[in-house]
Amino acid sequence: MRTIGVVTSGGDAPGMNAAIRAITRIAHSKGFQVLGFERGWEGLIRNTFVPLTPRSVGGIIQLGGTILHTTRCPEFRKKEGIKKAAETLAFNKVYGLVVIGGDGSFRGALELSRETDTLIVGVPATIDNDVYGTEETIGFDTAVNTAVTEIDKIRDTAVSHERVFIVEVMGRKRGFLASTVGLTVGAETILVPEVPYNKEEIFQTIKENTAKGKKSGIIVAAEGIGDTRKLAKEIEENANVEVRLSILGYAQRGGSPTARSRLLASLFAEKAVELLSEGQGSKIVGLQNGEITSIELKKCCETEKPLNVNLLKLAKVLAT
Ligand code: F6P
Repeated sequence: MRTIGVVTSGGDAPGMNAAIRAITRIAHSKGFQVLGFERGWEGLIRNTFVPLTPRSVGGIIQLGGTILHTTRCPEFRKKEGIKKAAETLAFNKVYGLVVIGGDGSFRGALELSRETDTLIVGVPATIDNDVYGTEETIGFDTAVNTAVTEIDKIRDTAVSHERVFIVEVMGRKRGFLASTVGLTVGAETILVPEVPYNKEEIFQTIKENTAKGKKSGIIVAAEGIGDTRKLAKEIEENANVEVRLSILGYAQRGGSPTARSRLLASLFAEKAVELLSEGQGSKIVGLQNGEITSIELKKCCETEKPLNVNLLKLAKVLAT
């Protein structure tokens, strides 16, 4: 019986469990046995895994987090760690490895693919949605909805107190989460790392809004723009308005995956196992123009995913 390994690595994302479940069940239906390596790359370095069966992955489709656990693994950034992981794959005769994670995990997977005969396929899962080769990653939709639910509540208190709120969302160095969340909560301003912002313009917009009777507002800021605490203070001092900062934080990483995140997880899993059973590796699966596709892992690691700046332009018009 051929063996498929599964690992979840880097920051967790809602829907990772749905992906583990689908990979396990699809792989079993094709006659593979499945091993789940634990705690990200650490499991490959230390040879710690659990057998995954169609029964053992029951009841997890709705769970946030990852039953396999995950880590950021500094040891795997060194040659020695990658060598150990390759040895583990050879020792367990792992034919194919599915790596569920984001761009950092895929860079690790690319390094590992150079040291092993095991086929490696990436399944993009990160709330940041910053993986080239897919329009959407597993967990993104859930994180967007989590943030929107919270910001709708913040809007209530902003309106009551006639305050401006800066709401900081995650996204590491990118603004995919901030732009989608900002547009869908009707934010007056959206700040992302990809587009340099002008403080004077922010002050001006707030003053104009106040003059036309809009006495409260929401600024959605990506964590990657820098010090939002300082920005809140500067706005308060220059725009004649009370400002509060709300950092949404790790709640964005958890929670039950939305139907969309579960659907993507299941479709990506199907494609990943299909690629492996056809003998194809060094790829990531993805969503492009409504189709489940795949691209080379190397291309994914070497290319920066562009941000759709039209979302920002549209949000601006919608917030007038
Ligand atoms: O990549 C997902 C993410 O939540 C980012 O949005 C955030 O910057 C980062 O992980 C936080 O990393 P850690 O889990 O190591 O604190």
